[in-house]
Amino acid sequence: MYIKSIAASIVVGQTLVSAATNVQDYWKSFNSTTDPLNITLPSIQQTTSNDPTTECVNYETPAQFKYDSTQWPTMWETATSNGMNTSAEFTALYNSIKWTDMPNIPVRTLGSDGALNMTGYDEANDPDCWWSASTCTKPKHQNVNEDIYQCAEPETWGLTYDDGPNCSHNAFYDYLEQQKLTASMFYIGSNVINWPYGAMRGIKDGHHIADHTWSHQLMTTLTNQEVLAELYYTQKAIKLVTGITPLHWRPAFGDVDDRVRWIATQLGLTTILWSEDTDDWAAGVNEPLATVQQNYDDFIQMGSNGTMSTHGNIVLTHEINNMTMSLAVKNIPNIQKNYKHVIDVATCMNISHPYQETTIKFPSFDEYVSGKTSSTGGNSSSGSGSGSSNSSDSAGTSAGVKSLPTNGLAVAIALTILAALV
Ligand SMILES: *[C@@H]1O[C@H](CO)[C@@H](O)[C@H](O)[C@H]1NC(C)=O
Ligand SMILES: *[C@@H]1O[C@H](CO)[C@@H](O)[C@H](O)[C@H]1NC(C)=O
Ligand SMILES: *[C@@H]1O[C@H](CO)[C@@H](O)[C@H](O)[C@H]1NC(C)=O
Ligand SMILES: *[C@@H]1O[C@H](CO)[C@@H](O)[C@H](O)[C@H]1NC(C)=O
Ligand SMILES: *[C@@H]1O[C@H](CO)[C@@H](O)[C@H](O)[C@H]1NC(C)=O
Ligand SMILES: *[C@@H]1O[C@H](CO)[C@@H](O)[C@H](O)[C@H]1NC(C)=O
Ligand SMILES: *[C@@H]1O[C@H](CO)[C@@H](O)[C@H](O)[C@H]1NC(C)=O
Ligand SMILES: *[C@@H]1O[C@H](CO)[C@@H](O)[C@H](O)[C@H]1NC(C)=O
Ligand SMILES: *[C@@H]1O[C@H](CO)[C@@H](O)[C@H](O)[C@H]1NC(C)=O
Ligand SMILES: *[C@@H]1O[C@H](CO)[C@@H](O)[C@H](O)[C@H]1NC(C)=O
Ligand SMILES: [Zn+2]
Repeated sequence: MYIKSIAASIVVGQTLVSAATNVQDYWKSFNSTTDPLNITLPSIQQTTSNDPTTECVNYETPAQFKYDSTQWPTMWETATSNGMNTSAEFTALYNSIKWTDMPNIPVRTLGSDGALNMTGYDEANDPDCWWSASTCTKPKHQNVNEDIYQCAEPETWGLTYDDGPNCSHNAFYDYLEQQKLTASMFYIGSNVINWPYGAMRGIKDGHHIADHTWSHQLMTTLTNQEVLAELYYTQKAIKLVTGITPLHWRPAFGDVDDRVRWIATQLGLTTILWSEDTDDWAAGVNEPLATVQQNYDDFIQMGSNGTMSTHGNIVLTHEINNMTMSLAVKNIPNIQKNYKHVIDVATCMNISHPYQETTIKFPSFDEYVSGKTSSTGGNSSSGSGSGSSNSSDSAGTSAGVKSLPTNGLAVAIALTILAALV
């Protein structure tokens, strides 16, 4: 990785803005100049080309983002890196959480083979609802948001893509746009900072954007502080770049237990897993392409052979590279033939407000069936949102300096962009 450009940093230690009074208000301290209801992408080769190499040429810092690399975790490292676990904002957030209420569950370890160490864990009863042990999705502990893992509606394919925004996704997003399809997109914080226009395109196209952690690690092996930082700094990155703060997240490798879920719940986040896994990322890497295609074919067949007559699914697929996106484009026509509905998870589950910012509204499933789209989704004439561009969600846009309550959050104003290539 190398750092391409760092805009002049003007960190003014005194200039702390806003203040959340309770933990669930943490996002109000994030400052974004992006109006998610009015996104215009610059016409540069990275946003217009369909050639992966051209799209992935690093680009200049967008003028509206004034990141400061000192205000962010190191790219692709645990989000407590670069001193982020001792920043004023993070310390305030950490201290505002009542950790004594957290389920008493140990941090997991890795075995000598590098896999999760399940020695000594009662996998059969799975007391901590550890997905990696038994694909458990219904928490066994109190005050933990329950996972979403399949669309409730019959013959409905829950369209989800992980690990974006990928720099080379233009052809894929163009295809989804042409097909008028919206998906749930699980973005990695490091990618959002690297490829901000890619994330903005996701919002502009009306996709359901969610948090996929900062550095894509096995979350149950991270300490409480690290889990919190992985989620928090991804929320912050997505907000800064796109103007919205997700209410959903997906753990890398599905690795979640009730401790990790409880921490996510403190941030207002609900876990979205999946019911079918295509293994698309492994195509041509760990598995023959034909095996992955067979997974697709099986899941497609389930749409028309009765398996999906009382419920739908959520399918795990990725925008991680040209192979996975090509597989998506190749299979979508057949998915559409075999399923009545192909749609993002917010819409299939009637989640009208999948973001903290209530200015954005997604259609209910019934509204979607009758032709409505999300208020962010390109076509405002058929949108069900208010169309308002009031970014009232960006708390703390006043220039005034406020004192920082002991229990609150604060964000230093000056942020410089870190445009880095992996
Ligand atoms: C949308 O953004 C453009 C350019 O950024 C701006 O000129 C326009 O006034 C904005 N429209 C609304 C309704 O905010
Ligand atoms: C912050 O994280 C580092 C390791 O990344 C650790 O050594 C240090 O003790 C942590 N600081 C606090 C205040 O937790
Ligand atoms: C695996 O977990 C068990 C039980 O927690 C522990 O005793 C053992 O040391 C762990 N092994 C490794 C390699 O961490
Ligand atoms: C439907 O298709 C799936 C995938 O091929 C298969 O596993 C399942 O048995 C089929 N169900 C019926 C009722 O035919
Ligand atoms: C994005 O996709 C390209 C190929 O299409 C791939 O080379 C690159 O590694 C991907 N980037 C990330 C961050 O996944
Ligand atoms: C895959 O890459 C080729 C060029 O190598 C490009 O033409 C095509 O549009 C890409 N496919 C997708 C789905 O991104
Ligand atoms: C979504 O709303 C419809 C219509 O009210 C209802 O039938 C359906 O059960 C709801 N789905 C969920 C997951 O709540
Ligand atoms: C928006 O949707 C309406 C109704 O479906 C359609 O008539 C109109 O052409 C669309 N506009 C754009 C810009 O796609
Ligand atoms: C924007 O929202 C704020 C806070 O809710 C409100 O006070 C203000 O009147 C709104 N402005 C417009 C133009 O709607
Ligand atoms: C938010 O960013 C804008 C544009 O950089 C700046 O004018 C404003 O003062 C900032 N507000 C806060 C609260 O940081
Ligand atoms: Zn992932």
